[in-house]
Amino acid sequence: MEPQSPFKPGTLAHRVALVTGGGSGIGLEIARQLGLHGAKVVISGRREAVLRDACQTLGAEGVAAHWGDVRRYEDCERMAAEAVARFGRLDTLVNCAAGNFLSPAEQLSSNGFRTVLEIDALGTFNASRAAFEALRASGDACIINISMTLHYGATWWQAHASAAKAAVDALTRSLGLEWGHYGIRTAGVAPGPIEGTAGMAKLAPSGGAGSATAAASMSGAIPLGHMGRRWDIAMACVFLCSPAAAFITGHTLVVDGAEWMCKPPL
Ligand code: HXC
Repeated sequence: MEPQSPFKPGTLAHRVALVTGGGSGIGLEIARQLGLHGAKVVISGRREAVLRDACQTLGAEGVAAHWGDVRRYEDCERMAAEAVARFGRLDTLVNCAAGNFLSPAEQLSSNGFRTVLEIDALGTFNASRAAFEALRASGDACIINISMTLHYGATWWQAHASAAKAAVDALTRSLGLEWGHYGIRTAGVAPGPIEGTAGMAKLAPSGGAGSATAAASMSGAIPLGHMGRRWDIAMACVFLCSPAAAFITGHTLVVDGAEWMCKPPL
């Protein structure tokens, strides 16, 4: 059963958030929790049917969905403009749209590498840049970039995603540096293994979350003894969007049960 949120329901009252990639997985849970904590939420994504289903799942009045591909700057401009048109302002942008697959570098095509770079890194820049004027007008805004930990060392068959998320982390720092005086904080959240996500299904295809054995062996390698939940990532986002994080910018918060830095005992 999902734990109760430790935050008050009105923690994000009067805020308007745009969540790219908010139609499914971690993005959908982030959108749901921002909404449960009082924010009006706009989700965006590339699959209209997924967005429709997500709106039904979210089922609240303060929710809207807009089709768009973060690789296209004009789509990002439209998403930001529509969020402002619908709810009157934009205070929070969560860059969650991402693409990934496993591929040995020597088999990865140039277009495959570019595609992931464009969705993750260019998409994060596009959405942030397109939302800049609206976020600046808010006067108390934040951008949350969803990253990962697989590029802290090096991960097999993840050259493309590692390069992309390293760029995302660099953007988190750069925008934290440059946009702070506009009243825009920028933070990252780096999830570890999160159960039941597309990422896990793709990156652990021998079973991932679907195989009890694979899940148990993965959980055993995590110091906290279990995989993360989408809820854990969403709670980190609620915190980072809230006034409790008012002095945090340019930083990426790792939410992984210490998985990335853990080595087996000697
Ligand atoms: C090798 C592949 C491939 C694969 C696609 N490509 N899938 N190469 N192995 N499995 C190559 C294609 O051959 C093509 O290159 C190029 O990538 C573009 O593929 P398209 O299918 O045309 O692109 P598109 O339709 O835009 O799809 C993008 C995608 C897709 C990334 C490939 O999977 C996607 O959009 N997924 C979104 C959802 C998702 O992946 N979520 C998980 C994120 S998890 P050529 O040369 O043939 O033209 C995550 C963090 C995980 O990000 C961290 C967990 C710990």
